[in-house]
Amino acid sequence: MSKRLQAMRGTRDILPGEVEAWQALEDAARRFSARYGYREIRTPYFEATELFARGVGESTDIVRKEMYTFPDRKGRSLTLRPEGTAGVARALIEAGLTQPGMLHRVYYLGPMFRYDRPQAGRYRQFHQWGAEVVGSASPWADVETILLLVDLLGTMGLAGLTVKLNSVGDATCRPAFQQRIREILGPRRAELCPDCQERLDKNPLRVFDCKVPSCQEIVHHLPPMLDSLCDACRAHLEQVKRGLEAAGARYEIDPGLVRGLDYYARTAYEVHHGQLGAQSALGGGGRYDGLIHLLGGADVPAVGFSMGVERTLLALEEEGKTPRPESAGVFLARGAGLGDEALRLARELRRRFQVYLDLEERGLGAQLKQADRLGARLAVILGEDEVKAGELTLKDLATGEQRRVPRAGIEEALAAALAAAGGTGR
Ligand code: HAM
Repeated sequence: MSKRLQAMRGTRDILPGEVEAWQALEDAARRFSARYGYREIRTPYFEATELFARGVGESTDIVRKEMYTFPDRKGRSLTLRPEGTAGVARALIEAGLTQPGMLHRVYYLGPMFRYDRPQAGRYRQFHQWGAEVVGSASPWADVETILLLVDLLGTMGLAGLTVKLNSVGDATCRPAFQQRIREILGPRRAELCPDCQERLDKNPLRVFDCKVPSCQEIVHHLPPMLDSLCDACRAHLEQVKRGLEAAGARYEIDPGLVRGLDYYARTAYEVHHGQLGAQSALGGGGRYDGLIHLLGGADVPAVGFSMGVERTLLALEEEGKTPRPESAGVFLARGAGLGDEALRLARELRRRFQVYLDLEERGLGAQLKQADRLGARLAVILGEDEVKAGELTLKDLATGEQRRVPRAGIEEALAAALAAAGGTGR
């Protein structure tokens, strides 16, 4: 036998049986995005490496260690997108949609790629639902994106959620704070991990995000950015808090929250789930007022988030809320020699219903067993007798009840029976 190939580490197949929960979550994400007035944007899965180096930031773990970067056949450096925001910003700039005064609400759903150490809730190809508001500096835009994220998670039935909120300051107040951190940590440089020593030079705020216990111990005693905010940043944060309170959304202030990407200014937030262990952030985001300008567009403010699909599904599983596929199927069972008539009838019924047709030449009993195995709700039986009488037999596979219906009235009978059984008859 030939050698069997396997999916790459950190990637997963989503097989039938599991994919239905994905579809339910994706459907809900699309529905909620639309309700909040967001329209879909689709950008390429790979981009010029420079987009992420500039956009996400040279000091981030994503750019330093986690990107899938490769030269194409012409020697250009390409990268599989590690996140969606930089690509969305690039696309809007390129389409001329980032003029001052314009406002865009967009969302995306799709795979992202990071060369991370795989573990529960962390993969190398993972999927995000993200939403971005481009063109508004209003704190209400921040509030709107947070509400969109928590409303989607809430509608899926998740209960154990915490919204963590912080401000990372802006170009007015952050440089002085960074300088202060450098001054405090400079004398203790040798105690920091090699990564943090580098972070201290490039972007001292990054040390707040270090997972090394000895660094965390040091960081724990640092003054928080919150205490150094300028008046405008402080007022912005207060209004975001007030907006969340007005809308009835709970949050907690987390002064240590800095996020893993460099483009944030002012608002930073994450939504965590209590039962997920180390990888507990279901989604995160914040304001990125400087990014569009940094990528060559006008000076246009923006805010948004992304939610991890895999982690959200894990959280749903933890709470026993995994969406189950609704079974609304009809199995068309036929007597011997009635294949042609069955094929015609199945095609007709498939205009409205999900219809299974046995592909083999099996007896009626074996066909009905097959129907059970497939989880069909109803069987339509087309036998010799039925053909003679111009009728069909309709059988409820859950109760075993069956009755004859006129051939011409089968669609109405199926629709009524499926509605009664709680199916949609799609
Ligand atoms: P992020 O925090 O890097 O933000 O990712 C957002 C979410 O994606 C995380 O909370 C997590 O649920 C999921 N995620 C990230 N990495 C992995 C992984 N290796 N495996 C599984 N899930 C993962 C961003 O990506 C920003 N673009 C968010 C944003 C949008 N900010 C403004 N607009």
